[in-house]
Amino acid sequence: SLPVPSVQELAKGSLENVSSRYLRDDQQLPIIIKSDDNIPIINMESLVFGDEFEFKKLDFACREWGFFQLINHGVSDSVIDRVKKDTQDFFNLPLEDKKKLKQMDGDLDGYGQAFVVSEDQKLDWADMFFLTTNPPYLRKQHIFSHLPQPFRETVELYAAELKILALKIIDFLAKTLNMDEEYIREMFGEGTQAMRMNYYPPCPQPDKVIGLTSHSDAVALTILLQLNQMEGLQIKKDGVWIPISPLPHAFIINIGDILEVNKYDVTVSFPFKKNLNYQIVTNGAYRSIEHRAVVNSKKERLSIATFYSTKFDRQIGPAPSIISAKNPAKFRSIEAADYVRGYFARKLDKKSYLDVMR
Ligand code: SIN
Ligand code: FE2
Repeated sequence: SLPVPSVQELAKGSLENVSSRYLRDDQQLPIIIKSDDNIPIINMESLVFGDEFEFKKLDFACREWGFFQLINHGVSDSVIDRVKKDTQDFFNLPLEDKKKLKQMDGDLDGYGQAFVVSEDQKLDWADMFFLTTNPPYLRKQHIFSHLPQPFRETVELYAAELKILALKIIDFLAKTLNMDEEYIREMFGEGTQAMRMNYYPPCPQPDKVIGLTSHSDAVALTILLQLNQMEGLQIKKDGVWIPISPLPHAFIINIGDILEVNKYDVTVSFPFKKNLNYQIVTNGAYRSIEHRAVVNSKKERLSIATFYSTKFDRQIGPAPSIISAKNPAKFRSIEAADYVRGYFARKLDKKSYLDVMR
């Protein structure tokens, strides 16, 4: 990544007009959509009790939305309160302290920004702090072991809880998809986990900037925690941007590219092109949906996206059991590490990176 200014610092100045690097003519700008329709709410306790209706809801959520809010997820309030507080405290540190943890050249881990590949590209109105959290040997020690306490301990605690949660969700998905549980466990058991902590300062021209450029996630599953109840996340459904109002005590979960590829292997898919044929062939697909974050002029917004993926050295691609002469693979296999590397090396201008798999 090229070094970019801290937007948090920029926003502290009493600016009236933001610099042109942040003014987006390359993106569809935020339009407020009033939608009665919103992402489904899934009660995890009901899934644990094997409630068929809840499983149907989960299946519907993944096919139609690729997103849902998860309540009664079992992660304790005390852990969540702790990670919220310590993350907020981290961003509140003086810039010099955060800079000690800044991204090194070519690294994603650290304090900085992702997807910056050229001097003239437009920038997101946000700072991020990225940490690879699991497996432990993949942690970037020049960052991780220098995290201030108690932040470091909190991150480890939260990462452990969210790994358990991710595996439970993947198990539930395997059930709704009738997939081989062995295969799923083997594929995801000791997967890679990373966290992206986002800080979106208020902006005097919120309708001219983007907090996080539109994208779909390269991973299998993303678990989003919002630190406050500010709206900002939007997802694209049927060509329209729909804002997501976070429920207190809920996680926002979304399906990433890898899960889409693993299941939809043979039949899918352009997740962003409505193509009836594809939908019929797949009988509907769990979709990795395009989403973005917008900002506002009143108040900062913070979020933590925790990504869960396969092992880094894992080939991702069509599940062998479903490929046949009649159903040839539409995606080639690629090493998960290469997929993620390629994903981050590009400018965030394509909707999905899935196309490299073709
Ligand atoms: C994302 O990680 O794509 C969304 C982040 C956010 O809602 O702030
Ligand atoms: Fe995302």
